[in-house]
Amino acid sequence: MGSPWKPFLILSVISGLSEFARAVAARPMSYAAVLRMRQDSSSSVLNSRSRPRQQHSGGLVTPGWPAFSSHPLSALSLLSSQEDLRSEESEEFGPVFIQEPDDVIFPLDSDEKKVMMHCEARGNPPPTYSWYINGSEVDSKTDYRYSLIDGDLIITNASEDTDYGKYQCQVENSYGIILSREALLQFAYLGAFSTRTRGDVSVREGQGVVLMCSPPPHSPEIIYSWVFNKFPSFVAEDSRRFISQVTGNLYISKVQPSDVGSYICLVKNAVTNARVLSPPTPLTLKTDAHEEWRMQPLN
Ligand SMILES: *[C@@H]1O[C@H](CO)[C@@H](O)[C@H](O)[C@H]1NC(C)=O
Ligand SMILES: *[C@@H]1O[C@H](CO)[C@@H](O)[C@H](O)[C@H]1NC(C)=O
Repeated sequence: MGSPWKPFLILSVISGLSEFARAVAARPMSYAAVLRMRQDSSSSVLNSRSRPRQQHSGGLVTPGWPAFSSHPLSALSLLSSQEDLRSEESEEFGPVFIQEPDDVIFPLDSDEKKVMMHCEARGNPPPTYSWYINGSEVDSKTDYRYSLIDGDLIITNASEDTDYGKYQCQVENSYGIILSREALLQFAYLGAFSTRTRGDVSVREGQGVVLMCSPPPHSPEIIYSWVFNKFPSFVAEDSRRFISQVTGNLYISKVQPSDVGSYICLVKNAVTNARVLSPPTPLTLKTDAHEEWRMQPLN
């Protein structure tokens, strides 16, 4: 038979500790924390640099703890979760993030033009959510394009023109207000090349030449390659040939007869993997002055 005192001792230690926890979490302290935070957060909406350093809880903060009181007794959070569940009902506390919004790159060619920015927090009383875009509050009540589902912001018919920007989630209850990190919403797309026929580029053997890619509108970055004569024969970069990943242009130095042919710029969206091909640019060798008229301006 085990000692009948043991469970009793443990229980009394637990209840003693949680009394202590309650004392630490007593209201005067959380009010002070809230007041401090209110001051900070009212100014932080417009100036994100001065935003209060928010501890991202990661869901690890024990329910029942008031938000923002820095508690020295983290060992207490290991206390029985039953105690936590019981106190969650009754203890009131300011909002704490469970998940702050992440950066989103939304492919514009997706069937559903609905973007969701996720935000989740807890607090007691249950907190309310609002959203800011570039520091201005989103009016989800009157603007039909926005809706709030729990803390999540849903944007219907989203487009780069109207919705690109930095998003922040704000969570509030009677104990305080917290403001999330800035999450960037970007759109991924890749337009089509202009179908205009590209003129010949003529160069003397042994000279250098630049073939211009002139990529279509795109977001975010694209990856450039060049097809020589026929897909999938790609131009391999070597000591004579270079593809700029900034402009997409193909540089060939010391042109040889084997370089003659047709060149197609291929661009690939790094996020969606969509690809498009340019019209071909023929490269020819200039043999005599009579063909000068075929020369294209190079830059
Ligand atoms: C979606 O946006 C486009 C232009 O941005 C507009 O022409 C269209 O009417 C909008 N559709 C809906 C359902 O709001
Ligand atoms: C947010 O700011 C960026 C950068 O200034 C701007 O390009 C974008 O259009 C703005 N977004 C909205 C929705 O106002």
